[in-house]
Amino acid sequence: MTDAASKQKKPDPCSFVIFGVTGDLAHRLVIPALYNLAATDLLPDKFCIVGIARKAMPNEALRDSLMKGLREFATRPVDDAIAKRLLECVTCIAADPKDPASFDRMREQLERLEANRATGGNRLFYLATPPGAFAPIARELGRTELLKEDGGAWRRLIVEKPFGTDLESAKALNNELLKIVDEHQIYRIDHYLGKETVQNILVLRFANGMFEPIWNRNHIDHVQITVDEKLGVGHRGSFYDATGALRDMVPNHLFQLLSLVAMEPPIRFDAHSVRSEKADVLAAIQTQSETEALRNSVRGQYQGGKIGDAEIEDYRTTEDVKPDSTTETYVALKLTIDNWRWAGVPFYLRTGKALGVKRTEVAIKFKQAPFAMFRDTPVDRLSQNYLVISVEPTEGITLQFNTKVPGPVISIDGVEMKFRYKDYFKAEPSTGYETLIYDCMIGDNILFQRADSVEAGWQAVQPFLDAWKKAGAKGLETYKAGSEGPACGDELLRRDGRSWRKLG
Ligand code: BG6
Repeated sequence: MTDAASKQKKPDPCSFVIFGVTGDLAHRLVIPALYNLAATDLLPDKFCIVGIARKAMPNEALRDSLMKGLREFATRPVDDAIAKRLLECVTCIAADPKDPASFDRMREQLERLEANRATGGNRLFYLATPPGAFAPIARELGRTELLKEDGGAWRRLIVEKPFGTDLESAKALNNELLKIVDEHQIYRIDHYLGKETVQNILVLRFANGMFEPIWNRNHIDHVQITVDEKLGVGHRGSFYDATGALRDMVPNHLFQLLSLVAMEPPIRFDAHSVRSEKADVLAAIQTQSETEALRNSVRGQYQGGKIGDAEIEDYRTTEDVKPDSTTETYVALKLTIDNWRWAGVPFYLRTGKALGVKRTEVAIKFKQAPFAMFRDTPVDRLSQNYLVISVEPTEGITLQFNTKVPGPVISIDGVEMKFRYKDYFKAEPSTGYETLIYDCMIGDNILFQRADSVEAGWQAVQPFLDAWKKAGAKGLETYKAGSEGPACGDELLRRDGRSWRKLG
């Protein structure tokens, strides 16, 4: 997130090298994001896109396939002239980390191309591959010195999620990468940070004087973070069954939301200060014992059902999912943050697939008014004060408070004050990746994850992974596709005398 002025500036000339260019991510998100940047004139004037495939492919074939993807996934109407200009920049080069000589050949081709396009040697490598390929590719980029910053040129590496599968593997990947490049060259991407509403959490908290004084344990009862999805696992069975809802969503997307809501004010709005505060608050999440982890978590797996008109099959009968799988497709956790601001304030997190409603939000529940002045009136139970930051599908902020219902007797009802982005701002829909890719091109890593944050995130979820592994199927509940998730999800809050905000 840079200031408006620097947002206007065009990035330096560079080459944009995509590993995994034939895959889903490149077609669905990366190229549509580059298209959006091209359409707003935010790509460098001297620019080339290099698609790395394991086997050589004619440029035309790759361009056609990317064009098809663009037509399907673009977030705005595609202007043929802009799309053509963008895709003419695409060259396909073959390289496979299993064949080191192919990286030497790729280096020669890339350097020739860079000389032709006058990119000045600035390079951005985007690892849009399955995670198992991150380290082998980075090792080859290191060996061939393609990532070495010399002669004034910058070299950057975007690494997709999932970054590791647990604390140990995340540390190993960080160590491996840091042997090859400096931390300032690594851009660990989490597309949640590209979402406007997520970035707005910082602005809401720190550009307004009225929230921060009450943003603490004295006034906040608890925080709920929800990322509910309607989609089932679809064709991602093989990835998902080895991953599960916790690894797929919590240490990355949900923790981005948590850290922005819970961090201390940074001393400056720069990458170092903001990322340090985020890392600190993640490190302050209490590490639970395995017994506590079992008590403070629930997991579920969906069974067949209907969502709207769509029939969703049983998770266990999904392509590439084991028929006796114990992988969770729903998880809810209770976490606490051990610092002065948040001591005693639970953070409840939940996320699941194949649920009845798609919704991403952070709901901050404030404490009840301290004095029950209306006890003897017809209203003795006030409704709850929530501040809700809605990320998807609604983008906005809602404040719920109590008001008097007009009439002769005192009657109180909960009402809402609503801010909706679409009512105030006209923004073209985006993939969320364009901000991140643009920021990487201008060298601003404020919206990317630093090594310590990633490790702190895994540290916090590791006890759940360990406890569930030992428990196997014990404790795994089922829920019907299209429902609100397993009943045990409600129990996690009910035993604390609380409840989830209802699905809207
Ligand atoms: C991805 C997960 O990182 O995020 C998917 O791998 C998930 O399983 C997706 O569906 C959710 O992103 P969004 O932007 O739709 O909330």
